[in-house]
Amino acid sequence: MTAVPLNREKVNKLIADNKIKSVGKASIREVKKIIDDIEKTMDIRFVRMEMGVPGLPTVKQGVDAQIKALQDGVSAIYPDIYGTAELKYETTRFVKNFLNVDVPEDSCIPVTGSMQGTFAAFMTVARMDEKKNKLLFIDPGFPVQKQQCKILGIDYETFDVYNFRGKKLREKLESYLSKGDIAAMVYSSPNNPAWFCFNEEELQIIGEVANKYDVIVLEDLAYFGMDFRKDYAKPGVAPYQPTASHWAKKYILMISGSKAFSYAGERIGVIVVSPDLYNWHTDYMKKYFTQDTFGRAIVFGSIYALSSGTSHSVQYGLAAVMKACNDGEYDFVEGLKDYQRKAAFMKQALVDNGFEIVYDKDLDQEIADGFYFTFNYPGMTGEETLNELVYYGISAISLDITGSDQQGLRACVSLVPHDLLPVFAERVKQFNIDHKK
Ligand SMILES: Cc1ncc(COP(=O)(O)O)c(C=O)c1O
Repeated sequence: MTAVPLNREKVNKLIADNKIKSVGKASIREVKKIIDDIEKTMDIRFVRMEMGVPGLPTVKQGVDAQIKALQDGVSAIYPDIYGTAELKYETTRFVKNFLNVDVPEDSCIPVTGSMQGTFAAFMTVARMDEKKNKLLFIDPGFPVQKQQCKILGIDYETFDVYNFRGKKLREKLESYLSKGDIAAMVYSSPNNPAWFCFNEEELQIIGEVANKYDVIVLEDLAYFGMDFRKDYAKPGVAPYQPTASHWAKKYILMISGSKAFSYAGERIGVIVVSPDLYNWHTDYMKKYFTQDTFGRAIVFGSIYALSSGTSHSVQYGLAAVMKACNDGEYDFVEGLKDYQRKAAFMKQALVDNGFEIVYDKDLDQEIADGFYFTFNYPGMTGEETLNELVYYGISAISLDITGSDQQGLRACVSLVPHDLLPVFAERVKQFNIDHKK
């Protein structure tokens, strides 16, 4: 393999061929393409941390059940738009077992991934009340969700929560929600990109402020149970995955199959609409929906218009995985701990070589090791760090595109193979030797 740093002229030419001025400003897919090109032409394996793609095999119970469903002929039949009975049933059990939240089966609606869940949610929440038509993103966040807002023509506000953790969150949220034009607020916890996790106090604040201003909480649980500091995988036993749904009246939980169950390829998730929200109706919504409650509008208005439901066979797959979790036969968190081990190693290698972890704390606690982490080289902007790291065979994305005000990069550990971990440590060491002042 070619030694690092790579030949700068050759790398610069490949970057220029991609019509990119700065890798540190490129989108995730653009970074991917540039790195593909460098790998192809320069005999180097990159430590690739730019994409948040799960890297583990799909849970066996899911694949088996999905194959059986296909053999039984479900692919020939349109799925019911509100979901198969099995998946709705297992989701209510899952929500009770792992969040300690009671919801009826009607509340649990399959979607083609959380991505569609947020899209359908945005479309619906912004059309309930003429005056409340904006979203608030508690950032940093998943950049595509802002893209979803843009193409839907929905306005949004955003702030970086870095300096507003704990009790400070209340006043900050009030400053936005008191204006009266926010329909819903959006956040992920564990967070993409920063991997912080809101604690119970913060989630209670989110719920209480939402109730005070009659705002909907959109809680993105794409990384359900993946705060490995706690064991959230024992059914019906505390601790439970923390959630604002214990306090918020109007909420939607997005439970993705992609990361927790490594089911990204089949595009499956479930949204859980709280009963208060499900039954909510307004006169204004009639302009957009024939149905007159939120729950029916999101199913028979938004999801119908988007995809007429969710692929039939994978609903059986996800239901089987959830059943195995609910019955205590499968520990979905145990199988994901490889992400934790890799993150711990990589973060240590960075810190040992002069880098710093950007979002490093959950209030007074060290941030968890997991799917993502954020880092930077002191004295450089995030853009500069990424531009330089590319010469050292390391890729990531800049925090700039995530709504963060901090300088740094997001790294995803999932696609880094174990045999490249020592190579990573060597490369960051070399980087530090070449850059330290
Ligand atoms: C915060 C967040 N939400 C949603 C998604 C997308 O999930 P899905 O694959 O279920 O559409 C991701 C994927 O990276 C994510 O990080």
